[in-house]
Amino acid sequence: MMANGPFRIAPSILSADFARLGEEVENVIAAGADIVHFDVMDNHYVPNLTIGPLVCEAIRPRTKAPIDVHLMVKPVDALVPMFAKAGADIISFHPEASEHVDRTLALIRENGCKAGLAFNPATPLHHLDHVMDRIDLILVMSVNPGFGGQGFIPEALVKIAQIRRRIDCHAANGGQPIWLEVDGGVKPSNIGLIAEAGADTFVAGSAIFGARGADRSYHEVLADFRNALEPAARRAA
Ligand code: DX5
Ligand code: ZN
Repeated sequence: MMANGPFRIAPSILSADFARLGEEVENVIAAGADIVHFDVMDNHYVPNLTIGPLVCEAIRPRTKAPIDVHLMVKPVDALVPMFAKAGADIISFHPEASEHVDRTLALIRENGCKAGLAFNPATPLHHLDHVMDRIDLILVMSVNPGFGGQGFIPEALVKIAQIRRRIDCHAANGGQPIWLEVDGGVKPSNIGLIAEAGADTFVAGSAIFGARGADRSYHEVLADFRNALEPAARRAA
């Protein structure tokens, strides 16, 4: 079943021009994106090293859009209050990276943020079993985390459909809303299929910020994404 409500597009600033990051954030949101996806990598949980709370704090005044912090770090907990203070709205982490998943989810909400749980391509869904009421977002990785610009792993569509059923069942039993976000290899050519599988929030890094090299504007690229989502949006309405 399809997600209800509007679809959200979350550019991953991993593929932005870091030398002009504030401007990039302003421009991509002005061009029609909904959320800033902020990839945090520690060269330990994943084999790459990116940005931390100081950079989150620096971009916070540049936009009113939610900042969606994707923690690819181990351990997780010490960074949660730091990112909350730096202005994060959503904080997601990988269950393999926390010794106490339930405690980390609670910690994120105690710090005033929405809590997300992220699933690698081979991570089973049983991690959701006893924590559905503590989650605001489920992030499905459709690539192995660590780098932008990788190809979409089609098996993620099966996982998205399974999670969509769990979320709908949770909602039908009076549970809170949960966003279903997909991250990795999302492009205008596959976003329709991903929406049909049940995702409602779409991270895209290289396909959006790559516009620079292709001599296109962020506005044009985001229009491609919205157009590709239209059939799914019509069916969901
Ligand atoms: C990968 C990151 C993604 C990445 C997506 O580990 O979590 O957010 O930036 O980039 P693309 O859209 O280029 O696959
Ligand atoms: Zn990410």
